[in-house]
Amino acid sequence: MVEKRKDVPARYATAQEIQSQMEYTSKIRAIVTAGEVKKACVVTYGCQQNEADSERIAGMLRAMGYEKTDKEENADIIVVNTCAVRDHAEQRALSITGGYKHLKAKKPSLIIGISGCMVSKKESGDRIKRSYPYIDFTFGTEKLWQMPEILYGVISGQKRIFCPNEGKPITMEGIPVLRENPYKAWVSIMYGCNNFCTYCIVPYVRGRERSRRPEDILNEIRGLVADGCREITLLGQNVNSYGKEFGGECDFADLLAKICEIEGDYIVRFMTSHPKDASRKLIDTMAANPKIARQFHLPVQSGSDRILKAMNRNYTRESYLSLIRYMREKMPDIAISTDIIVGFPGETEEDFEETLSIVREARYDMMYSFIYSKRSGTPAAEMADQIPPAVTGARFPRLLEVQNEISLERNLVWENQTLRVLVDGRSKNNPEKFSGRTDGNKIVLFDADDSDIGKFVNIRITKAQTFALIGEIVNDGR
Ligand code: SAH
Ligand code: SF4
Ligand code: F3S
Repeated sequence: MVEKRKDVPARYATAQEIQSQMEYTSKIRAIVTAGEVKKACVVTYGCQQNEADSERIAGMLRAMGYEKTDKEENADIIVVNTCAVRDHAEQRALSITGGYKHLKAKKPSLIIGISGCMVSKKESGDRIKRSYPYIDFTFGTEKLWQMPEILYGVISGQKRIFCPNEGKPITMEGIPVLRENPYKAWVSIMYGCNNFCTYCIVPYVRGRERSRRPEDILNEIRGLVADGCREITLLGQNVNSYGKEFGGECDFADLLAKICEIEGDYIVRFMTSHPKDASRKLIDTMAANPKIARQFHLPVQSGSDRILKAMNRNYTRESYLSLIRYMREKMPDIAISTDIIVGFPGETEEDFEETLSIVREARYDMMYSFIYSKRSGTPAAEMADQIPPAVTGARFPRLLEVQNEISLERNLVWENQTLRVLVDGRSKNNPEKFSGRTDGNKIVLFDADDSDIGKFVNIRITKAQTFALIGEIVNDGR
């Protein structure tokens, strides 16, 4: 059973504490760089928050003298950054980690750690301690900044160390970052979540909500833009409640407006928005700032007011739809996406049909849909009337069918239009083509060459498909 943590105020890691971690980093560096080159591999599951955390884990490992590798079999240290949002995510991480047992048998000096949401709770760490003897250390999301101290304990003391989240939630600045992509950056603007949607494990594993200071965020973004970064994605579980602790001095819309004052050719995205906190002011700020991408991810979860109430979402179908109407009125081109859960406890056929109808009314560009996964410790796990897999299994494809038709219609609008796209690189699924994303975050496939990567190009859309647009570069835009 997970205990609901009290609303304790967050604190900053002090300069002294960060300094002390740097000292551990130097001690490890002296050991790591003494012999042959040592390599570190960070494996990531879960959301963009985890991607951003992994870049900091990789940054700390580089500062310790490790070289980066993407291949576990070449690594001297592997850190698996895990997700706990659905059972499937936990099972995948555990089965992949299970495979590392053989790597350790071949190379006994290999160090293996598990971090992130799955090991943030004490009981998960206890399970790993008991059942996975080849795992050397774990650390929860709020212990990330202490990784140097934990790893030094493992290396110098030849012992296993387990560090679940405990104590006050912490905001950390000044941790080294090794970014995956020089043109696109994640910037966490806040940590944690206070919403306690009844199905969700995140508030239990990410701690209480706290915001980074506007100046710290602005300085980070100024540095990124000066280094040539073209796309900044601001991250938080509920970015719309950014800045609550600053007494109304700088809310999320104010922060966005300040970011847009930074000169340079770049775009700003953000996620995720909670419909209960997304304000008209935010929408007006977006409409007034062309640097903010015309994209809004607004998870609805369900179209039934009864289910929204049971989920503790604090908005209604009507208030949600009126927000969408306002957005489209101010920005007719905006692409809107959503998350939906199918099979929340007590969901009747009528409730599900209301979800289908809100999808038709909202006319989303994209939808991420999930079958409800019971998370022990959350209120929904205790609710009566859990929906049998056969029922959810039958509902899920009906939802996809409705959305896929709308996605295609929404994409067809762009045929023969020219859009500005940041070139990402070769498409993973179709390496013949390059891919990039439109302002509305739609994937576009086109012919280009490696020198175009990281640049904005203008692309005429020649064909629209359900999940992607196909196009051609019309001028080089460089
Ligand atoms: N903070 C974000 C979401 C983070 S989790 C928000 O509030 O929108 C991402 C998505 O996972 C959620 O939007 C939800 O649709 C889904 N999700 C969360 N818990 C889940 C569970 N127990 N079962 C199935 N899907 C879940
Ligand atoms: Fe989970 Fe709700 Fe918080 Fe999102 S807002 S992370 S769904 S509790
Ligand atoms: Fe998963 Fe943690 Fe993100 S549970 S979805 S990695 S906040």
